Amino acid sequence: MITFSHISHSYEDEDGAPVVYDDFSAEIADDEFVVLTGASGSGKTTLLKMLLKEIEPTSGDIIVDGVNLRSIPRRRIPFYRRDIGVLFQDFRLIPDVNVYDNLAAAILATGGSGRDAETKITHVLTMLGIDHLHKRYPRQMSGGEQQKVCLARAVINHPKLLLVDEPTGNLDPVSTAEILRLLDIIHRQKITIIMATHDLSAAEAAHRRRIDLDELTGSREK
Ligand SMILES: Nc1ncnc2c1ncn2[C@@H]1O[C@H](COP(=O)(O)OP(=O)(O)O)[C@@H](O)[C@H]1O
Ligand SMILES: [Mg+2]
Repeated sequence: MITFSHISHSYEDEDGAPVVYDDFSAEIADDEFVVLTGASGSGKTTLLKMLLKEIEPTSGDIIVDGVNLRSIPRRRIPFYRRDIGVLFQDFRLIPDVNVYDNLAAAILATGGSGRDAETKITHVLTMLGIDHLHKRYPRQMSGGEQQKVCLARAVINHPKLLLVDEPTGNLDPVSTAEILRLLDIIHRQKITIIMATHDLSAAEAAHRRRIDLDELTGSREK
C-alpha cells in the first residue's frame, strides 16, 4: 500500500543543510500497524509530513495505493488528505466547545453533513469507549482523556490511513497503555496505522513491526 523508494531529503539551511534521509526505502502493507522509531531528530515527523505531501523529498518516490505522490497536483492535495487521519503532537481540541461539537467541527470541515454527524460521533465514541465524555469541555478532562478525544477526531471520517506522531508524549504509563489499546481497536477497523515515537517503552508495548530510522538512515551523522 505504501512504498518509500530511495528517499533522500535535506532541509535547506543557511549553514549547511543537515541530511535527514539518504536513500531510505521501506514498505508498509495494507492494514498494517507499524511503529516508526528513532531518536529525537531522526526524521520521524518529516516522514509523516512527506506522506501528507506537506514536504516533498529531495529525491525518491512515495507511492500510496499505486499513486506516486509527485503526480498529485496541488489542487488535488485536499482530496488525497481526506483519506488520512492525523494526530500530531501540537494538535489541540477547540477549547470553548464540548467533545461532541469538537467532533462535529471535524466532520463539517471535511465537507460532511450535519445530518450524519450524530451517527458518526456516536459510533466513534462508543467504539473507543469514551461516550461518557461527550458533553465535557477540554478543560474538564485529563491529558489522557483529551488525547483519546483527539484520536476519535482523527478517525471520525474513517480514513484508510492513520498517522500518529508521539501520541503518548506527555502521558503517564497507564494513559499510554490506554492509547495503545485504542489504537488496536482502530486497527481492527482495517485502518492502516503508522505511529511515530521516540519512546522505546511505548514502542515495545505496541508489539508491532518496527521501522527504526536510526538503523536505516545510517549515513546520517549523529
Ligand atoms: N523545517 C525544518 N527546517 C530545517 N530543519 C528541520 C526542519 N524540520 C526538521 N528539521 C530537522 O530535521 C531533522 C529531523 O526532524 P524531525 O523529522 O522533526 O525528527 P523527529 O520527528 O524524529 O524528532 C532534525 O535534525 C530537525 O532539526
Ligand atoms: Mg517528531
